[in-house]
Amino acid sequence: MKKLKIKKAVFPVAGMGTRFLPATKANPKEMLPVVDKPLIQYAVEEAIAAGITELIFVTSNSKRAIEDHFDSNYELEVKLETQQKYALLQTVRDILPANIRCSYVRQHDPLGLGHAIACAQHIVGEEAFVVLLADDLIDSGSANCLQEMITIYQQTSASVVAVQAVQAADVAKYGIVAVAEGWQGCGEIFDIVEKPEPASAPSKLAAVGRYLLTPGIFSSLAQVSAGKGGEIQLTDAIALLLAQEKVYGYQFPGIRYDCGNKMGYLKATIAYALKHPEIADQMKEYLSQFSTENEIIT
Ligand code: G1P
Repeated sequence: MKKLKIKKAVFPVAGMGTRFLPATKANPKEMLPVVDKPLIQYAVEEAIAAGITELIFVTSNSKRAIEDHFDSNYELEVKLETQQKYALLQTVRDILPANIRCSYVRQHDPLGLGHAIACAQHIVGEEAFVVLLADDLIDSGSANCLQEMITIYQQTSASVVAVQAVQAADVAKYGIVAVAEGWQGCGEIFDIVEKPEPASAPSKLAAVGRYLLTPGIFSSLAQVSAGKGGEIQLTDAIALLLAQEKVYGYQFPGIRYDCGNKMGYLKATIAYALKHPEIADQMKEYLSQFSTENEIIT
């Protein structure tokens, strides 16, 4: 059987990032760096490593920096070359491999994640695609969460939602899926609810910002009306899609840093600093001194 290829990834990047104000007043939250790379670049690298070749960014008026980041910067390159800073020059040139194509589409009204995905419909067309939320930084070691989801799609032809177990107190922050008893980390989901109250949540398995969606999602998106927070929710469209098609959940191994909030972002910064070849040792030493000083103080 011919393997079903997934070529396109949608990156909804139009959100305002109010949890990081004032840092995100003039800069996109997706451009916040974790050590030395912006969040959006981690998501793009994960997509490219999974075989994606077409990147579709759903942007808004304050997000021009994202477009610039993935474009070449002639002046900077000439300067680095003149200064013989060849390693840095390579870093800048390697941000995107030559075979990758980017498209940018504007989400004119901030009507929610579902609405953002619908804005990309004319570029996605009639094929399955993936969605990555750059806020969710995923460290699955040598595995690639998205690659695993593509493998599940190739075996089932179904949409796949990445999920992770969360604390009961946190279910109200995420889309929560219902799964069959005896869930073993991968299988059909039977329902998905956006940010339920803990008492009525179908489980503690939360959707993480990685989705693989069949094009059927677009007719579901066209049917849903404003849901939680008055926004067009992707979760509600997936719930509707479940009436027509199977949808799988995939509980990936690894750590997910919710960089949409300050604590998750800071945890990611420390974790990535601790494995960065340039600063890992210094960071380890600094943290050990820091905890000693803390002990003295307390
Ligand atoms: C969005 C989705 C939610 C999902 C979450 C993952 O929420 O609506 O279902 O669980 O991303 O990060 P947001 O983070 O935009 O509030």
